[in-house]
Amino acid sequence: MTDPKRVHVDLGSRAYDILIGRGLLTEAGHLLLAMMPRRKTMIVTDENVARHHLATLEAALAAAGIDSSSVVLPAGETTKSFSSLETLCDSLLAAELERKDAVIALGGGVIGDLTGFASSIIRRGIGFVQIPTTLLAQVDSSVGGKTGINTRHGKNLIGSFYQPSLVLADLELLHTLPLRERAAGYAEVAKYGLLGDSEFFSWLETHGEAVIAGDHHAVLQAVETSCRAKAAIVVEDETETGRRALLNLGHTFAHALEAATGYSQLLLHGEAVAIGMVQAFRFSEKLGHCATGTANRVAAHLKHVGLPVDTKAIAKHLPPPARMAAIMRQDKKASGGRLTFILVHAIGAAFVAKNVDEDAVIEFLTQDLERQ
Ligand SMILES: NC(=O)c1ccc[n+]([C@@H]2O[C@H](COP(=O)([O-])OP(=O)(O)OC[C@H]3O[C@@H](n4cnc5c(N)ncnc54)[C@H](O)[C@@H]3O)[C@@H](O)[C@H]2O)c1
Ligand SMILES: [Zn+2]
Repeated sequence: MTDPKRVHVDLGSRAYDILIGRGLLTEAGHLLLAMMPRRKTMIVTDENVARHHLATLEAALAAAGIDSSSVVLPAGETTKSFSSLETLCDSLLAAELERKDAVIALGGGVIGDLTGFASSIIRRGIGFVQIPTTLLAQVDSSVGGKTGINTRHGKNLIGSFYQPSLVLADLELLHTLPLRERAAGYAEVAKYGLLGDSEFFSWLETHGEAVIAGDHHAVLQAVETSCRAKAAIVVEDETETGRRALLNLGHTFAHALEAATGYSQLLLHGEAVAIGMVQAFRFSEKLGHCATGTANRVAAHLKHVGLPVDTKAIAKHLPPPARMAAIMRQDKKASGGRLTFILVHAIGAAFVAKNVDEDAVIEFLTQDLERQ
């Protein structure tokens, strides 16, 4: 293990560190010792991650004298469900974990969100640690304490704010991640540049391909910058009453696209976010908030690294614009029938726009389809 980078999430009594580096998994036993006073834990993971990385973690814990058992859940979004929550809670209780113990979430956002939520309700809260294994989880879902599951009414509608006690982002784990998943996670990296840091976006325009290809220095820089950006926003607004909403740049459009494509492999979350961010820039241009040509620059970069930037490939799955706008209205970010969007003045300058007129959205979506 080379010395990891450390990002501190300064939330007072709920403060924690994110360690970012190589070889953290093999050192996990020593790194986690302080959180495991009874030398006992449970690892929660999915089938894909277990195949590649579970044995390494188990050996690392054993080497530090920590006794572990594991729960291996099916991979995929459907695991963020009531039934998996029940299975997981049963396992955690059967393992006799107590409040001072800590559970380990080893996986992507699905495992992190589910395990975090289970940890928040077991005995009214037991400790938990995140070892994110996707780029998306390392730069986004493992940081900030949003946990939850999906229901038939929509995604993430049941959950809690519950911070982990440590995040270990081991960049070596990304080597086994399929390229399409790496690109999807990259959309959330680009998001931090687009919403608040134009210099970072410019850096990504030069180094983005290296990040997706897995070049260590490029990935380290990208993950660290992203975690610092997210941590700063979370510290300012832990429960999303204001500024944290900026992290939803592109997400109102994205959620509607994901709903229309059934949260399937047709469109991964990060791919939907890439399209949604371009739409947010185009919509901002149309409303006169942002200089013409900005959206094209954003689209050119995301396309260059292999992300979709328009709805052409999924057009036949999309309902008409009025229906898409209605889906957006049902998204939890809508209030009082008016729509809330994250719009932009420029690259690196996002803002919350409340009271966006639904007709303007429909007109934009109609034009956006015609443009393609
Ligand atoms: N809590 C938050 O703040 C937050 C933020 C963003 C997204 N999310 C949630 O995160 C979820 C998406 O996360 P995700 O993109 O990580 O998806 P995921 O957890 O489903 O992982 C994607 C796929 O990659 C596989 N995988 C994971 N790590 C791997 C590795 N190292 N090697 C090989 N395969 C690996 C998984 O088995 C899965 O098939 C969504 O449910 C979303 O709602 C939460
Ligand atoms: Zn997202």
